[in-house]
Amino acid sequence: MRRVLVLFAHPVLERSRVNKRLVDAIDHLEGVKIHDLYEAYPTMGIDVRREQALLVEHDVIVFQHPFYWYSAPSILKEWQDLVLEHGWAYGDGGDKLRGKITFNAITTGGPEAAYRKGGYNRFTIKELLAPWDQTAYLCGMRYLAPFAVHAALRVIGDSDVAASRLTYVKLLEALRDDRLDLDRAAAAENLALTLDDVMAPREVA
Ligand SMILES: Cc1cc2nc3c(=O)[nH]c(=O)nc-3n(C[C@H](O)[C@H](O)[C@H](O)COP(=O)(O)O)c2cc1C
Repeated sequence: MRRVLVLFAHPVLERSRVNKRLVDAIDHLEGVKIHDLYEAYPTMGIDVRREQALLVEHDVIVFQHPFYWYSAPSILKEWQDLVLEHGWAYGDGGDKLRGKITFNAITTGGPEAAYRKGGYNRFTIKELLAPWDQTAYLCGMRYLAPFAVHAALRVIGDSDVAASRLTYVKLLEALRDDRLDLDRAAAAENLALTLDDVMAPREVA
């Protein structure tokens, strides 16, 4: 069983419509630990050794956050800058994250159609997440397609949010239980929309 760590970052959780419900859905899932960064570090004084120990203890690292300025809330940038040390995460002797699986679980205000060539955001979500992909690559990690819930601000309805919750649970359980085809999960565009296509075929007993 893989151990899953969800590094959760939402600066105003009391105003969250979607992330709050997504994180509630995976709370208490066996083998899944949620680490709320803004709760742990309200003044951003990130404990680097504690964060590194958590990373070492887990096999799948999920960055869950609202999409802010085509990236993540600032605490995640601070986290990257401090925690992913040279000689630890990358560079000479920096092999502590090697072989782990990672991806972003995000919500966006913009609709899916905006995240296309010709849309008002001009780039796909995967293109915009390229720095996360490359960071994972440099650290020897396996970077999967994002789990992205679009139009989260107020456009999608409660039934869509409920469906996203179920898909998110299914995704984390599949990762935990090694039931995902990782090559297809990396090549997909959005795991929130195509999860069934990237599940590994069940072995016939
Ligand atoms: C500072 C800030 C920056 C944002 N930047 C983006 C953005 O780049 N693209 C986008 O689609 N939505 C953007 N949004 C909208 C948020 O992504 C959206 O409110 C959030 O995903 C909703 O999730 P929640 O209900 O959990 O807060 C931004 C919102 C804020 C407050």
